[in-house]
Amino acid sequence: ALVTSKQMLEDAQKGGYAVGAFNVENMEMVKAVIAAAEEMQAPVMLQTTPSTVKYGTLETYYAIVAAEAKKASVPVCLHLDHGSSFELAAQALRAGYTSVMIDGSHEDFEGNVAVTKKVADMANAMGIPVEAELGKVGGKEDDLEAEADTNTDPQEAKEFVERTGVTSLAVAIGTAHGFYKTTPVLDKERVSEIKAVVSVPLVLHGASGLSDEDVKECVQRGMCKVNFATELRAAYTDAGKKLLEEKPETFDPKKFGVVGMEAVKELVKGRMKVLGCEGKA
Ligand code: 13P
Ligand code: ZN
Ligand code: NA
Repeated sequence: ALVTSKQMLEDAQKGGYAVGAFNVENMEMVKAVIAAAEEMQAPVMLQTTPSTVKYGTLETYYAIVAAEAKKASVPVCLHLDHGSSFELAAQALRAGYTSVMIDGSHEDFEGNVAVTKKVADMANAMGIPVEAELGKVGGKEDDLEAEADTNTDPQEAKEFVERTGVTSLAVAIGTAHGFYKTTPVLDKERVSEIKAVVSVPLVLHGASGLSDEDVKECVQRGMCKVNFATELRAAYTDAGKKLLEEKPETFDPKKFGVVGMEAVKELVKGRMKVLGCEGKA
């Protein structure tokens, strides 16, 4: 069923595990992620970035996810990832998204508080959970390139959550979007420090390319939602490339879809095991 992220993130926080949030680009990726959740009996979040919704529209992703979620026995949430403005967050809510992120991390602290509070006031009034970001996750997410990586300060995080009313918080601990060119240096103790003073579930961005051990430790220390994007795109496309190498005569999009879905499903199942959300639906 299509549900908000409220219950699943609260349960994850209480249970000491994390819900996987997987970025999807098309119908095949939606089906693959939900099939993985079904096989693992795990709650799941599917999310789309601003560039993805520009490509396919909020309404179309909503229609695909809603149709697939309806058939699923597990809780499925549709989330706006890295919402870039109040207007886009409002449009996502109107389209039926059941969770939104407003990313004001490129603003200064007061600017971030202001835009985040505006979105939180609107979404909370509609019963929809809101994720925000404090500190800077490295790398390129969509068209937004973060400059110098700045990890989240625990006391600032506490003040930020209290002043904005957000229901979950993405924090920076040294991860970056995309694959890593060099091994990332993660400040994992910071997760525990933030968790000690912040009441809402914490979110880890940039998980593609992290080792299972790193992901596991971040979850044990308090991350309740973990985002995977690049890995899924790569798995989907690599499967299609392999098919084309083996059978260059392939022209039916369904053939690419089948191998792409299988690759994404297996990847997602593996990451879900690491997050500990298996059997938590
Ligand atoms: P990766 O592309 O590194 O998995 O990051 C995903 C993410 O944080 C989406 O918001
Ligand atoms: Zn992200
Ligand atoms: Na990454």
